[in-house]
Amino acid sequence: MAKSLLKRGIGVMLFAVGGLLAPLSVAQAGVDVPKLPPAKGASKCVEDTDFMRRNHMDLLKHHRDDTLRLGIRTTKHSLKGCVECHASEKTGSVAANKEDFCVACHSYASVKLDCWGCHATKPAQKSAQKPAGHPSAVSGSTRAGGDK
Ligand code: HEC
Ligand code: HEC
Ligand code: HEC
Repeated sequence: MAKSLLKRGIGVMLFAVGGLLAPLSVAQAGVDVPKLPPAKGASKCVEDTDFMRRNHMDLLKHHRDDTLRLGIRTTKHSLKGCVECHASEKTGSVAANKEDFCVACHSYASVKLDCWGCHATKPAQKSAQKPAGHPSAVSGSTRAGGDK
């Protein structure tokens, strides 16, 4: 009994969350949609697009790592990977201007990220040259497009 109540509670919660995000997906098919630059080098995201729309923040957030439903600890959801695929052609970045992938959607949804102070918004350069400025928080051997 308690269990089924709990289940129902969770159902209601999920429903509520879906309701909150629904306007965004509706908007995406509609008028003042954030127009997102296409991803590079792959036809698929690291998870279903729909799942990503709703849950990418949970996949990414440090402090939620431990409670992730999916128990993700691999490089599959690394921020570096997002940047590699989603950096725009124009700026080479995910967050250099308003049209760039992460910002386009976030400004629409009034989200501000504090990630870019530490994390690169551009894919690492292939050469020995390091991107200026930050002691790259995103080192390691993550690569994009590996999960098929
Ligand atoms: C291997 C390349 C690749 C990687 C890595 C990747 N994505 Fe994607 N992503 C894509 C592609 C391709 C699509 C579009 C899929 C589609 O249209 O169905 C997409 C779609 C999305 C969408 C939905 C966009 C929309 O149209 O509404 C979000 C949000 C997203 N990705 C976030 C992320 C985040 C956050 C990360 C890092 C955790 C990430 N992606 C990593 C390729 C990638
Ligand atoms: C104060 C600096 C700092 C800020 C701000 C910060 N991070 Fe990080 N982050 C790090 C460091 C350091 C690592 C560990 C780097 C490594 O393992 O290569 C890391 C690792 C990560 C990783 C795992 C490694 C990877 O490449 O995916 C993710 C995911 C991540 N951060 C996401 C975020 C997100 C999302 C934000 C913003 C909400 C954020 N970080 C803000 C410093 C920061
Ligand atoms: C399809 C639209 C869309 C795209 C594209 C998108 N986001 Fe988001 N993101 C959102 C929405 C909406 C929220 C707020 C959700 C909420 O408040 O629960 C959010 C929240 C976040 C958060 C949590 C912020 C916080 O402080 O709570 C992080 C981290 C994040 N996004 C990272 C990214 C990164 C990195 C990219 C680019 C690779 C990206 N997002 C691209 C829609 C998007």
